[in-house]
Amino acid sequence: MATDNLKIQLRNVSKAFANKGSITAAVEDVSLDVRPGEFISIVGPSGCGKSTAFNIIAGLIRPDVGDVLIDGRSVAGRQGQVGYMLQKDLLLPWRTVLQNVTLGAELLNRSRAATQREARDLMATFGLQGFENAWPSRLSGGMRQRAALMRTVLSHQDVMLLDEPFGALDAMTKSLMQEWLLEIWTRFNRTIVFITHDIDEAIFLSDRVYVMTTRPGRLKASIDVNLPRPRSSHEITTTPEFGAIKHQLLTALRDEIMKAYGSPKLQG
Ligand SMILES: Nc1ncnc2c1ncn2[C@@H]1O[C@H](COP(=O)(O)OP(=O)(O)OP(=O)(O)O)[C@@H](O)[C@H]1O
Ligand SMILES: [Mg+2]
Repeated sequence: MATDNLKIQLRNVSKAFANKGSITAAVEDVSLDVRPGEFISIVGPSGCGKSTAFNIIAGLIRPDVGDVLIDGRSVAGRQGQVGYMLQKDLLLPWRTVLQNVTLGAELLNRSRAATQREARDLMATFGLQGFENAWPSRLSGGMRQRAALMRTVLSHQDVMLLDEPFGALDAMTKSLMQEWLLEIWTRFNRTIVFITHDIDEAIFLSDRVYVMTTRPGRLKASIDVNLPRPRSSHEITTTPEFGAIKHQLLTALRDEIMKAYGSPKLQG
């Protein structure tokens, strides 16, 4: 892949954490590229360093080794360059829905009045109309996640990092949210990097899926998803092409999960 015109680049990034005298290598020598406007997913065993990689891209954690570039410029340790939806949705309970969704823009010192106007206009798109002045405790799980996602969209960054945004949802709601996310992605013309444990979700949404190894997380595979767009329906998941990609991904991932947990043994 040519290195010019890349939106995000991780170059040989490693990060270890010191915990009570022992060292945990979380991410090891990870290099990956994301082109403008791509939808990329990252899958890998629990604890393999996916969220750490996001924290590095978002500038919340500095890599020990390597560099992270956005639009060709190093952003290691620099915050405010991406929209980031953390693994926990983190709505602030003492702020209303409207005050929560405008928080990201507020932190970036954007005009409060303009952001609130935009937020009110988008409430229906995000299925939150009528809840502008509600407290987060009144929202369902799906609504909370949509509010957190709306906050990420309203921060107006070209890059959106979404860490398991639909992890807590039931299958039906999740499937609707996935179709809706693709609409948002197309409409707002963003670059999205998405972490998930759900292989079908990764394939359905993405242009490419990166598979990480068991900790320390390295890149194990990069699998292109050459399925036609728009993908507005889950019927695509029953096609042979989808099945072939899924088989490739499961094979790569299964080896890693076995390394992490050992192969299952039957009792008896
Ligand atoms: N701030 C921190 N301090 C110390 N150790 C950390 C810190 N953040 C992450 N780790 C450790 O680094 C490793 C990778 O964690 P990380 O959260 O990146 O994994 P993950 O792939 O996102 O897992 P999951 O799929 O469960 O969300 C884990 O062993 C974790 O305990
Ligand atoms: Mg995580």
